Amino acid sequence: MSETPARPDAALRARAEIDLAALRANVRALRERAPGAALMAVVKADAYGHGAIPCARAAVEAGATWLGTATPQEALALRSAAAGLPDDVRIMCWLWTPGGPWREAVEARLDVSVSAPWALTEVVEAARAAGVPARVQLKADTGLGRNGCQPGADWDELVAAALRAEAEGLLRVTGLWSHFARADEPGHPSIAAQLTRFREMTAQAERQGLRPEVRHIANSPATLTLPDTHFDLVRPGIAMYGVSPSPEIGTPADFGLRPVMTLAASLALVKQVPGGHGVSYGHHYTTPGETTLGLVPLGYADGIPRHASSTGPVLVDGKWRTVAGRIAMDQFVVDLGGDRPGPGAEAVLFGPGDRGEPTAEDWAQAAGTIAYEIVTRIGSRVPRVYVNE
Ligand SMILES: Cc1ncc(COP(=O)(O)O)c(C=O)c1O
Repeated sequence: MSETPARPDAALRARAEIDLAALRANVRALRERAPGAALMAVVKADAYGHGAIPCARAAVEAGATWLGTATPQEALALRSAAAGLPDDVRIMCWLWTPGGPWREAVEARLDVSVSAPWALTEVVEAARAAGVPARVQLKADTGLGRNGCQPGADWDELVAAALRAEAEGLLRVTGLWSHFARADEPGHPSIAAQLTRFREMTAQAERQGLRPEVRHIANSPATLTLPDTHFDLVRPGIAMYGVSPSPEIGTPADFGLRPVMTLAASLALVKQVPGGHGVSYGHHYTTPGETTLGLVPLGYADGIPRHASSTGPVLVDGKWRTVAGRIAMDQFVVDLGGDRPGPGAEAVLFGPGDRGEPTAEDWAQAAGTIAYEIVTRIGSRVPRVYVNE
């Protein structure tokens, strides 16, 4: 019978340890992959669940000169004095809806993305009211079929309208940009097709008279594997957090990256039960014989995917265990096979993997999803504990 000592921070039910030295090293590794380009650290969705402000600071320390978010609210929070970021760091946000905080964004010197005439009209009105020119980046849909302006007449008209506003001193077009659909599928023909279209659309805008500071299209997989896509700036997200965009293109270690988040909990209970004992809601697991059960105090309300019921891996006492039965809202059970770790013993759901623990990718496979979703959904009830600040 083994006894795992409780960790000094075992008083925490659970914690997501965020290794900022790993994040800084990942940013440096990504910069080495794209030496001719600036790096925009994508810190949307609370830095993919890792904590936007500490991660933004660490990324800037490691040489990121731009930060990227989806919503304007995320970007404004980064620009606030409380974030403590250098004043000259560029902050871009790209997911706008009508009536958004354009004036605050203009006053906060954010780079705002525009994909359609309605957005250009709103940002121009805000710039006029603020008496400050807006920084605008025009987004081209080069084939993703999501946000962005369609090529052809729509693009020509958007560029022409931006040029008119630029001539009036109401905005400056700082960037032309786009996003890939399948950069994580090596050799997929859509990659070359999007790249050709991006070149055509930027060239067309430049012929019309725009002089953007930056043209950019590369997300993590493109930054890691497609040097032709780097242009003036790369926009990695997931790779910065040490997670591979797809196991198809390689492991984090293949790219010199190290996972930043370790998710662990303190066992809330270890108990002996007889064989034939049903476990958790629906009794989808029944003990095959007399055994011990460990209670992990994390559940789907903390972002542990319920789809990983009966499949998710956990390291307890040096051994991989599997979720026994259903993951509930706040807790799940592992069969410890007769081992009796002490109360408060550590259960590691995922981390870098070098202590033998599973990785976020292992949980993604167990839940039938992608590792992006695993790290991003870890809930606010789980404290983030920053190490190596
Ligand atoms: C517009 C945009 N750029 C860059 C990224 C970063 O992507 P990745 O995390 O794959 O690097 C995202 C994330 O989805 C995005 O939406």
